[in-house]
Amino acid sequence: MELIIQPGERQIATLVADAITALLDRKPDAVLGLATGSSPLAVYDELVRRYEAGQVSFARARAFMLDEYVGLAADHPQRYRNVIKTELTGRVDIPAEAVQGPDGLGEDVPAACAAYEQAIAAAGGVDLQILGIGTDGHIAFNEPGSSLASRTRIKTLTRQTRVDNARFFDGDLDQVPTHCLTQGLGTIMSAKHLVLVATGGHKAEAIQHLVEGSVSAMWPATIMQHHPHATVLVDGAAASRLELADYYRETYETKPAWQGL
Ligand code: GLP
Repeated sequence: MELIIQPGERQIATLVADAITALLDRKPDAVLGLATGSSPLAVYDELVRRYEAGQVSFARARAFMLDEYVGLAADHPQRYRNVIKTELTGRVDIPAEAVQGPDGLGEDVPAACAAYEQAIAAAGGVDLQILGIGTDGHIAFNEPGSSLASRTRIKTLTRQTRVDNARFFDGDLDQVPTHCLTQGLGTIMSAKHLVLVATGGHKAEAIQHLVEGSVSAMWPATIMQHHPHATVLVDGAAASRLELADYYRETYETKPAWQGL
């Protein structure tokens, strides 16, 4: 796992956008894994800026979402498919039909989850998966206790996650759905490159477990320690509990330029 400490989200966004731009340059029909939440927003803004400047095209790209709330109406602004359209896919040239997410409105939940796994596999798998991390160490919506080998399925959100996400629902906990469909940890681990971004002191404990803790279903993101190509980009506050922070800084400063992320 590579740990990169940067001054702030703007610098992090530049590095992640560099990696995505380079991927689309060498593979224009690349499969992107998209996350919602506030962490990737600066990355999406930077990608839109580059698209508008003619520096990158998503015309042949495909994209898969990590997760979706169960039961939010098709036109609900917090439905993740609508969120991602507002934040990224509706602002660049990726065709609408090339963006897929788990169907949180389907009646047959297991069938919807299986269909989603098949769609990802049929696309050849995800080339680069963007991830945020919850304060309880979840990635996508794989809450503590999730099977480290899980695939797309229905999950119950923890109270902590619902409290964290209430800010997107007028601060009203009752409006936050109780269930979601989420790619499993096994699904996420099948992506070729994992890129996780986190900023702020409220993420420091989760980042400490992710990078330096034991692999455990209690901190689901720790499964990333088993991934051959995982990059974690954080600011100083999110890195504040890392024992080897100086080593990570030194390693990045002396990294050969040709390596990229
Ligand atoms: C949400 C999402 C995750 C996201 C995480 C952190 O619940 N399902 O994909 O990474 O929580 O969100 P944020 O980036 O807003 O802190």
